[in-house]
Amino acid sequence: MDPLLWEKGKLSLMDQRLLPTRVEYVNCTDWRCVATCIKDMVVRGAPAIGAAAAYGIALAAAEEHGDEQEFFSILTEAADGLKSTRPTAVNLAWAVERMLNVAKTQAGAGVPELTRILAMEAEAIAAEDVAVNHRIGEFGAALVPNEASILTHCNAGALATVGYGTALGVIRTAVSQNKKVSVFADETRPYLQGARLTAWELSRESIPVTLIADNMAGFLMKQKKVDLVIVGADRIAANGDVANKIGTYSVAVLAAAHNVPFYVAAPYSTFDLSLQSGEQIPIEERCETEISHFQGTRIAPEGVACYNPSFDVTPANYITAIITEYGIIAKPDTEKVTRFFREARP
Ligand code: MRU
Repeated sequence: MDPLLWEKGKLSLMDQRLLPTRVEYVNCTDWRCVATCIKDMVVRGAPAIGAAAAYGIALAAAEEHGDEQEFFSILTEAADGLKSTRPTAVNLAWAVERMLNVAKTQAGAGVPELTRILAMEAEAIAAEDVAVNHRIGEFGAALVPNEASILTHCNAGALATVGYGTALGVIRTAVSQNKKVSVFADETRPYLQGARLTAWELSRESIPVTLIADNMAGFLMKQKKVDLVIVGADRIAANGDVANKIGTYSVAVLAAAHNVPFYVAAPYSTFDLSLQSGEQIPIEERCETEISHFQGTRIAPEGVACYNPSFDVTPANYITAIITEYGIIAKPDTEKVTRFFREARP
């Protein structure tokens, strides 16, 4: 499953709006197309939009340029345009900044050389993402008992990354270790990433998955049908507060009330250590019609007010552990997160 394909200087993005009914790609040959695809959810999921934006910068670099000055002004315009598409997932800004820094450190090398270097850097970001997800999977699978029944929310799978996934990567690794696990996928209103994407991804690999409506999670926990919860993240503050798809906070509170471990799987690029707490994380609000309509059909009265925050913040005290590519941060707080990255990160 390849949500992003980079071939001969062209980026193809699997159109996730069409899944699970059709598998089609949108081909981008310039950064504006990539920005539109991120904004319109052709590509979504924090690491995937980071990698897509990195390729967007590579495409901007390949545009016709005069001198290096013009090259850098086009790069800045593309960086601003790409970063403004979605505000919550920090991987997007992280990847764009990494690309800009590489260009700046190589300034003076000439436009053709800078263009080549930036294409290579985007490919490195994409390749690293898959490797990182496998490492998260290894650390996370140690927390998954045999025969575990796992609840997940939204889609933190191969489709949300460059491949393998974070939360679903943990599940994939547990399966590869011959653990018999089964998954409950929250449908994830209003955009239905759970129903359309997670259920599709897992069933294609014959990993047992049962789809539930979001409001069923508490009842399942009460019935002792959920052994643990694993979700991904869009941004993690220095104190361990986690922004993720709207509804994650409700699941975390329910998990705490029922003594069910609640795990977050995310790479270092999802941490924003410049923010002291989750209160400071910007929350994207999306179009009201995602609430008032269902697949183009109005389901709410004409003129009713709708509110559609796309993410929420789960306070660190609800989180049993954060699983990263460097290891596990149990019961995260500011001191543990700071110490962990000071000591565990090379
Ligand atoms: O709005 P989306 O579909 O981009 O939201 C995605 C999520 O919230 C994911 O859980 C998160 O990005 C982690 S993906 C590994």
